[in-house]
Amino acid sequence: MVEPDQPSTARMIDFWLGGEHHFPVDVAAARAFEQAYGPCAPVFRELRAFLGRAVRAIVADGVDSFLVFGAGVPTMGNVHEVAAEATVLYTDVDPVTIRLGQRILAGSDRAGYGYGDATDIGTIDPAQLHRFVPGWGRRPVGVVFLGLAAFLDDETLARTLDELYGAVAPGSQLAIDFDTEELAGHPAALAMMGPAFRMRRPAAFAPLLGRWRPTADGIAPIARWRPDGSPAGVPDAFHGAVAVRAAD
Ligand SMILES: C[S@@+](CC[C@H](N)C(=O)[O-])C[C@H]1O[C@@H](n2cnc3c(N)ncnc32)[C@H](O)[C@@H]1O
Repeated sequence: MVEPDQPSTARMIDFWLGGEHHFPVDVAAARAFEQAYGPCAPVFRELRAFLGRAVRAIVADGVDSFLVFGAGVPTMGNVHEVAAEATVLYTDVDPVTIRLGQRILAGSDRAGYGYGDATDIGTIDPAQLHRFVPGWGRRPVGVVFLGLAAFLDDETLARTLDELYGAVAPGSQLAIDFDTEELAGHPAALAMMGPAFRMRRPAAFAPLLGRWRPTADGIAPIARWRPDGSPAGVPDAFHGAVAVRAAD
């Protein structure tokens, strides 16, 4: 593949998770970020573990297809690896990451990867959507929205989540995370996240979910969302929830 000249947060995460799908430009950016913040691998391992627990919880409720927004690199404990019987459509807007994902999933008849702007569901190829998320709008599905809310302003995020609520069938479930103000104490690292990056106080999270109803677990620091055993001792950088689309 042609090497990109810009790093991607998704491929930096792949580096921190010990994956194999990133480029020198991503490694350089990841190392610079760690200089400014500190070790990132434990934090992103915990975020990926939250994804695993959330997806398993959704599968346990009988959901067997997932649409993933801002998907990044589809490896290292990602949705189709956790939900081994489910069908999964991964989407992103970054062309290099999409090509990587398509290459990784080339042999799969259960998981695909395509363009999708989370703020406009209409940008997803309908053929891919109906192939990998059969019954979209008619059967309950899982929607994964991780590592993405931090890049959308409040108004866009609330509108996007509301449109998604209107598009999915009752019983559908959303796995989502929000960035806390953890980086406020690390201004050099915060500057590296770019002007679109949004930190939020926990009290601001729930209103943005709109009609989506969090499960009884609530919106919690990700390490404390249904932990397997004692919660990992990682910085409180992300809060997460699984939220349900109720019957009309
Ligand atoms: C921090 S990464 C998270 C990747 C992945 N979810 C994970 O946890 O490893 C954010 C991803 O969101 C993508 N992204 C940014 N804006 C987006 C949008 N409007 N719609 C879909 N994806 C977007 C980026 O290209 C990037 O791959």
